[in-house]
Amino acid sequence: MTRNKALLTAAALLVGAAALAQTHRMDIDLKKVGAPIQPTMYGIFFEDINFAADGGLYAELVKNRSFEFPQDPLQGWKAFGKVEVKEDGPFDRCPHYVRLYDPGHPHKWTGLDNEGFFGIGVKGGETYRFTVWARVPEGGSSELRIELVNTASMGEDQFVCQAPLTISGKEWKQYEVILTPDTTLAKSVLRIFLTGDRATTDLEHVSLFPTDTWMGHRNGMRKDLAQALADLKPGVFRFPGGCIVEGADLATRYNWKNTVGPVENRPINENRWEYTFPHRFFPDYFQSYGLGFFEFFQLSEEIGSEPLPILSCGLACQFQNDDPAAHCPVDELQPFIQDALDLIEFANGPVTSTWGKVRADMGHPAPFNLKFIGIGNEQWDAIYPEHLEPFVKAIRAAYPDIKIVGTSGPNSEGDQFDYLWPEMKRLGADLVDEHFYRPEKWFLAQGARYDNYDRKGPKVFAGEYACHGAGRKYNHFNASLLEAAFMTTIERNADIVHMATYAPLFAHVEGWQWRPDLIWYDNLRSMRTASWHVQHLYSEYKGQNALTLKMNGVNVTGAPGQDGLFASAVKDGDKVYVKVINTSDKPQDVEFAFNGLKKKETVKAVGCVKFHSDLLYQDNTLDVPDLITPVKAAFTGEGKTLSATVEPLTFAIYILTK
Ligand code: AHR
Repeated sequence: MTRNKALLTAAALLVGAAALAQTHRMDIDLKKVGAPIQPTMYGIFFEDINFAADGGLYAELVKNRSFEFPQDPLQGWKAFGKVEVKEDGPFDRCPHYVRLYDPGHPHKWTGLDNEGFFGIGVKGGETYRFTVWARVPEGGSSELRIELVNTASMGEDQFVCQAPLTISGKEWKQYEVILTPDTTLAKSVLRIFLTGDRATTDLEHVSLFPTDTWMGHRNGMRKDLAQALADLKPGVFRFPGGCIVEGADLATRYNWKNTVGPVENRPINENRWEYTFPHRFFPDYFQSYGLGFFEFFQLSEEIGSEPLPILSCGLACQFQNDDPAAHCPVDELQPFIQDALDLIEFANGPVTSTWGKVRADMGHPAPFNLKFIGIGNEQWDAIYPEHLEPFVKAIRAAYPDIKIVGTSGPNSEGDQFDYLWPEMKRLGADLVDEHFYRPEKWFLAQGARYDNYDRKGPKVFAGEYACHGAGRKYNHFNASLLEAAFMTTIERNADIVHMATYAPLFAHVEGWQWRPDLIWYDNLRSMRTASWHVQHLYSEYKGQNALTLKMNGVNVTGAPGQDGLFASAVKDGDKVYVKVINTSDKPQDVEFAFNGLKKKETVKAVGCVKFHSDLLYQDNTLDVPDLITPVKAAFTGEGKTLSATVEPLTFAIYILTK
């Protein structure tokens, strides 16, 4: 061979080698079926933050319906004429009500306006159920006129609908009238006039719901928001928080027993998100508890999720309380432990049991089949295991089959995390709830997070996570892409990761304290974010078992030398879903090589779903809710290997079959 020819051959070999180096061969083992993906794996976590309950999922349209807001019983209301607040009403835990008197002049009026939550959103032609508890204290009857009003109207009339309502008798009774607005209004006002001969009239628990709620429940959920949850097919539903479980102090912790039974007699609780951030301050943010534990269990059942209630462990929020006296001493924990035991009875007990009867009386005699309970939210230090231990003992003794979820504290790593995991193992917690709101570089570095976790300890519940972009703490596509990348480590390690829930779930555009969030809404519209679509894709292509997928013998975790690729694979009957996330800004060629095929066996490409946006730092909006959505793409071929190109900044799911 001449010198020139030799040089040319060497150059050709180098080019060939370079070309080969650019194709990422991913070996997928089809013979060895891995750990089952738990049905609970991809779930949802609800907390009443960002006006997620009242003003959000809970479809009640009246704010402060029972006149119980503590600073001012008329907060949210505008009283006119002669109105008095009284507090010897028919509901002992919500004693306030209003008395309407004759205004004392034929040309004056008595009544009330309610502003709703950032206004009252109504749709033209739809029906709304107005209800009120009322009486005529001096006997006889009185007349009310109920209106929905457009206060910004330039027309002759302000009202968009009105209906008369007659109240009769000295006894408290519930009255109902259906309102049918002829116009769609995002911010109407509910107006109540005392009319007729203006007899003194008492009003309590003034309520307005769309009749078209999720599943038609009277005390129901906003349909579009519940649907956005149902569409995720969540395997687990964690509720009711979050920090509100703990309370800024124990007196204001979430108390599930106050959230069941007739809605009229559920005492309100403060919402710590009212004041946690003075830069996003909502002085009228309370929890009506209208969306209570019965409703949470019912919704879990209707959307096919395992309910996972989290209860106070007797520790007030540690972020907000340095004083040990803020917490319940361990030797006085019995009422808290009893709350946990009673909750299990409420969910699962026979109708003859005390709490099973409460459930049955609320319309659900069959048990809710509760399997999990969480004790404590983001607790830390020795005080947490000390508090958890007596709960574990009591729950194990009474309900050995219930799985107990503990916590590793608020941080994704560090001293407290390292201390709490072994403690959870020592106490025999079944799952440990980890939280991480972290920036891009953390997510990019976590592709192997669970690869080397202790296989003999509790299982993992990634209970709160979201990519919070550095300097970009708002929803955007890139954050969702990195969440997708991170989730490969969840999927790959399905033997120990049994649950994962993004957080927070909901946010009202006018009432948020925390972002990013999974689903946004105003009074009439809602929007599913890019992160929602990532959760949806993982849930939709969850599969049944993890498969081993390696590149050069190692997991594909975005490690140096892997060109920003993350990947995992699952088997679903005769189908295989390969998830590849290309976090780099260059296209990446991949070749899937299938091990474990018989000599004549091949694998056939079925199709592909791709999730990408050029709008890296934008998200869907209420005006353009489908700006960023997954699309179906071609993926063809058949053989012992299949090839594809993953475009830059893309989450792709390749679907194939044997
Ligand atoms: O999701 C918002 C808050 O973040 C939760 O209440 C708390 O658990 C975490 O600190």
